This record gives sequence, C-alpha cells and structure tokens, in this order.
Amino acid sequence: MKLKLAIALALAAMSAQAAEPWMDKSLNADKRAELALQAMTQQEKLKWVLGHFGSDFGNKTKKHPAALPSSAGYIEGVPRLGLPALFETDAGLGVATQASKTPRERTSLPSGLATAATWDRDLAYKGGAMIGAEARASGFNVMLAGGVNLLREPRNGRNFEYAGEDPLLAGTMVAQQVRGIQSNNIIATMKHYAVNDQETGRFILDARIDDASNRMSDLLAFQLLMEQADPGSVMCSYNRLNGVYACENDYLLNQVLKKDWGYKGYVMTDWGATHSTVESANAGLDQQSGWEFDKSQYFGGALEEAVVNGHVPQARLDNMVFRILSAMFDKGVVDNPVAEGGNIDFDAHALVSRADAEDSLVLLKNAGDVLPLKAGAKKIVIIGAHADVGVLAGGGSSLVYPIGGNAVPGIAPTSWPGPVVYHPSSPLKAIQARAPGAQVIYNDGSDPAAAAQAAAGADVVLVFAQQWIGEALDAVSLALPDNQDALIGAVAKANPKTVVVLETSGPVLMPWVDQAAGIVQAWYPGTRGGEAIARVLFGEVNPSGHLPATFPASESQLPRPKLDGDPKNETVRFTVNYHEGAAVGYKWFDLKGLKPLFPFGHGLSYTQFAYTGLAASQKEGKLQLKFKITNTGAVKGKDVPQLYVAPVSAKWEAPKRLVGWDKVELAPGESKEVSVTVDPRLLGVFDSKSKTWRIAKGGYKVLLAHDAADSKAASITVQLPQRTLNVAGK
Ligand code: BGC
Repeated sequence: MKLKLAIALALAAMSAQAAEPWMDKSLNADKRAELALQAMTQQEKLKWVLGHFGSDFGNKTKKHPAALPSSAGYIEGVPRLGLPALFETDAGLGVATQASKTPRERTSLPSGLATAATWDRDLAYKGGAMIGAEARASGFNVMLAGGVNLLREPRNGRNFEYAGEDPLLAGTMVAQQVRGIQSNNIIATMKHYAVNDQETGRFILDARIDDASNRMSDLLAFQLLMEQADPGSVMCSYNRLNGVYACENDYLLNQVLKKDWGYKGYVMTDWGATHSTVESANAGLDQQSGWEFDKSQYFGGALEEAVVNGHVPQARLDNMVFRILSAMFDKGVVDNPVAEGGNIDFDAHALVSRADAEDSLVLLKNAGDVLPLKAGAKKIVIIGAHADVGVLAGGGSSLVYPIGGNAVPGIAPTSWPGPVVYHPSSPLKAIQARAPGAQVIYNDGSDPAAAAQAAAGADVVLVFAQQWIGEALDAVSLALPDNQDALIGAVAKANPKTVVVLETSGPVLMPWVDQAAGIVQAWYPGTRGGEAIARVLFGEVNPSGHLPATFPASESQLPRPKLDGDPKNETVRFTVNYHEGAAVGYKWFDLKGLKPLFPFGHGLSYTQFAYTGLAASQKEGKLQLKFKITNTGAVKGKDVPQLYVAPVSAKWEAPKRLVGWDKVELAPGESKEVSVTVDPRLLGVFDSKSKTWRIAKGGYKVLLAHDAADSKAASITVQLPQRTLNVAGK
C-alpha cells in the first residue's frame, strides 16, 4: 500500500514537471535553459554557482549531506522545478574515490598518456564510453575528465593523466574520450585550462607565454578538443597565466574560450582555484567548485551582495546559471536522471581497458628479435616492480581504486597524493600461464647482485622497472628512482637476453639502453595491465603503440634543464617562462638539432610496413594527402603512419608539425589506401593582432614518416596559396 502511494506521488510529481515548459524535449537546450531560468528565484540561481566538496574537508567541514560519499563534488539542484543536483566524480581513467577507507572499486583504464600512445581514436572513444557508463551507474552526472594539458615538462607529475606533447594528437584523442563519456548522457570536463604544465608550485606559479605561441600549442589542444567533443564544462586551473589566476583571467575565459571559440558550456574552477568574487564573475567564471578548498565562499553570499551592489551585473549571474542549465539539458542530464547502484559489467569493462592497454604498449627496442618470447623457453626470470602481483597506478585525484583491492598495500606515501596502488593484475601469473613448460622465477630486484645471479643462464630475463608519481608532485629527475638503473645494468650484464618493461608515467632516462636487448614502454597499464603486457610479450598481440612524447637523452636537452620552483617552498610566487613558445617536444628537438633517446611517434612491431604513393591535392582550400600502406612482414599487425609538414620558406616555431595520422591493421601482404585531410590551422601561424591564422604562400614539404625523426620518410612538396582564416580556423 505504502509503495503504491509512493509510486502515485512520484508519478504526480513527474507529470507536474513534465508539464513545465522546460521539460519539453522538442525544444533545444538553450530554450529550455532560458525557460527554467525564468522560473527561478535569486536564491535558487545562486545554488547553481556554488559547488561543495563531496567529502569531509579534513577536520574543518563535513561533506554536504546530499553529496555521494567520498566524491569530488556536489551542486544543489532545484527539485521543485525538476532540475537535478550535480554529482561530480574524477576523472579520466575511471571513477575515482576521494581518500576513503571504503573506496569504490571500479575499472581503471590505462593512463591517459597510454591511451594517447594507441593513436587509436576508436579505442579512446570506447574507453570514455566505458568509464562514463561506470560514472552513471555510480550515481554521477558530471565526470571531471578531459585532461589535455600538453606535455611541455616531462617531469610533470600529472603527465600520465594527459595525452602527450602534440596539440593535434592530444586534442583529438581526448576529444574522442570526452565524446565517449558524454554518450552516457552525462557532462565531461575539459581541464586544466590552461598552461597548468607542472605541479611544483601549481597554486602560485605564473606561467608566461605569448598569445600566438599559446594559440599554436597548449590552447590549440583545448580548442580542438572543444570543437570535436563539445564538453559540457571546462575546469580552469590553479596557476596564473601571464600574471592573472586562470580562474579570474578575462583573456582565458571571456576572450579566448567564450568569445573567440564560441564555447557554450560552463566554466568551473579547480578545487581551491577561486580567489575572488567580482573579478572572477566578471572574467567569465561560472561556478566555484568545492568551496571548502578556498579561503571563502566567493560565489555564495558574497556574489549575491556583489549583484545587489552592481559590481556583478544580474545578467552575468543569469548567464552563469543559463550556461550550467543549458549544458545539463544538452548532454541529457535532466532527461536521464542518474541513480546510484546501477549494474556494472566489470568483466566486459576489463576487456575494454585491456584492449586499450594492449594497443598502448610501445616496443621501443627489439635487438635480435628477442621478442616475442619463444614458446620453447625453458627458464624465464622476472625481476622487480612487484611484477609477481600487479601493475602500478599513478597517484592523486584520478586514481581509480582497484577491483579486488591494492595488490601491494603500505608503500609510502600512503596518504595524499598516495596511496601508492598496484592493480592486482599479475604479469608473472599471465606469463606463467603462457609458458606452462618453462620454469618461471621471480626476484624482487631489491639486491642487484642477487638479481643478476638469478638472471644468469635464463633463456630470457624480464626486468620490470617503475616510477611512481602523482598529482601535486613532479619527478625530481627523469632517472628511474631506487637504484633501478644499477639493477638493470647488472642484470643485462649477467644475461644479454634482457627485456626491460617500463611502468612509468612518461619519459625516463635509460643509461642501460645499449645493454638491454628489448625495451617495452608499458605506462600505467590499468585494470588488466599484467595480462596486456604478457599478451604483447608473447606475440598474442602485436605491439602497435607509438610514443606520444619525445624521450630525451638527457635533461640538459630540455627547454628547462632544471625544473622551476621549489617543492619544499610552495609560498613564494615564481614565474615559469615558456620561452620555447609553441616549439614543444619534438618541435624543440628539431629546432635545436637535438637527438633524443627515442623520438615522438616511435614504436616497433613484430612485422614491417612500407609506405608508397604519397600524393597531395587541394579541395575547397583544404590539403588532402593520400598514400598506400603495406604489411611487408609475416604477421598481422597495426601501424601508425604519420604525416608531418615542413615549410620550405615560411617561418614557423619549428621545422615541422604533425598534421595527421591513421591507425591501420593489416594482414601479412595486405595493403590499404589512407587519406588524411589537414586542418588548415596546422599550416598557418597565428597572428595575435588580427586574431587570424595566416598561411604563407609557398612550398611545403609533406613527410610520410614512421616517427618524428624518420630519416627515410617519403616526401613531396606542395605549393599552397596565401590564405587567412578566422580565429576558429574557418
Ligand atoms: C584536481 C582536479 C580534480 C579536483 C577534484 C583537484 O585537485 O586538480 O583535477 O578534478 O581536484 O578532485
């Protein structure tokens, strides 16, 4: 009887709401937002712009009672108008939990940099769709995922959350992930906007870069993501840009994002990135997040007062709310309410994560075809990195707690930005399962001499090396920590058939590069990482990952050989001068004539590919490139042919830029035609005065390459006419 009454009441409420004009699904999102806004009181409007932390904030404040436990954030809705609250969760690798004794156990994708290393748009989309489904099933309708900061600084502790050093690759891959997430009728968040490219001093540093360079590098990655995926929200970052905090930066928010790019969604702050009421509101900020992290409820009573006193126009407050509501209607948040406790198919999701990991592994070196592992091996020695029980994850807000718990608990730091977590996917077990006739021995690697002794005489030795890093930290250097270089050196000396498997956030130095026969870059490989590694080592999967970032030969090659700021003193404001401008990563290496350890785009396979017939045409002002790719080896495999353009006489920030690629799977002997249309912005230079992209008339060399340093790349020269494009590249 009670149930019947409840259902009747719910139905009555629903039909009342359904009768409200903004619930009419035939109207567009903007119209619906406008109608809902008209029905709101000032107090209701103010609720939308103030975000609450979804967990207790130390001993200071308790979490908002209606927020989901141990979640990132909560924004009150207006139930009387049928407008649901916003439940926010991190992040790009899956559904995270804020520090908690009872974490949500969810599926973790491999790191963002790993997904970028697949260069596979479809895998990025599927990964996004999978984690978005878990977010929805966990009761969240906003996923703080869509990190696209460029890898300008290889020591940056959050590189593993992002998608590498090239704006086209990063923008495109993260756009696919965001599209996948939003296919679940939830909102995703492009972040951290902008030039938040190192963690040391992130709350105080002032990133300096000129407008044109920024538009052709960091901002271009955001612009491409926005255009291709239309994320419902954007998160402004902690740092200052050219003297002004990103979350009260009129240039970033009002001018570039909303005016130049025509962004329609809303801007939320990072947690603890709000510094003012009037400046922020008028600079284009729409929502203060997790206010508990800030000095004050800047968008609470203070904003109400600022509107009353005319410091912030009522129209600005209305526009903040309009943008939030419009994103909610547009992404399907209102029409498809979320609920906690939804069903999650963890087995199917693990396979999505594994497929991503498999395609992300980069075979960096394979001397004497030491890989794939031979079925007849009698003795395999596995060393280090807890490869007996699991695979490493990166730390901080993006950490997804493993299904089945942490495989190696207790490693410091055990609290923020820790704990250090290993997904319980054992490489050892996965290798054993594939070599039933072999003796498989594990040595923990803590004693290089003992490890070398264990390695001597084995058919093959697999040394797992690792570098843990996380949010709020940067790597102190690019060298592997904990004496692992000495370990690898000793093992490789004892047995030349040594293969190194790297579980690192990103680039590391490899003083032992000439001694190791094989090197596999495995990143942080996620929920099924151990299995993915074993499948690639044994050739069940042919490696097809390619580096989304340059691996330098030494830190002296970097634009900043020493990282700016002092991790021990986070109070004194300092500047980071991005003097390299748009010459990020391989562009910097090209410009300076430096030879990296491994170039951007590098990645080997168990087969070979040949490229022929590179040809260009121009259609409706767009450069189109065509070529044929053939698998000339003996096994099936996937390749990533890359197209770069180098101007003959036009002046760019660097000798060449990536303008396109494809990921192609081919059986032995099989060929395919590939065609790529080039975004004209990638052929031009941004002019800040006129806010236009200018393509200079003249010759441009098109290179069809295996990586950014491919000396045998095929090339043709095309003549382009002079062209001017507007700020959106049209
Ligand atoms: C991070 C964001 C994250 C937020 C909420 C901040 O520390 O920088 O990426 O979304 O916390 O957890």
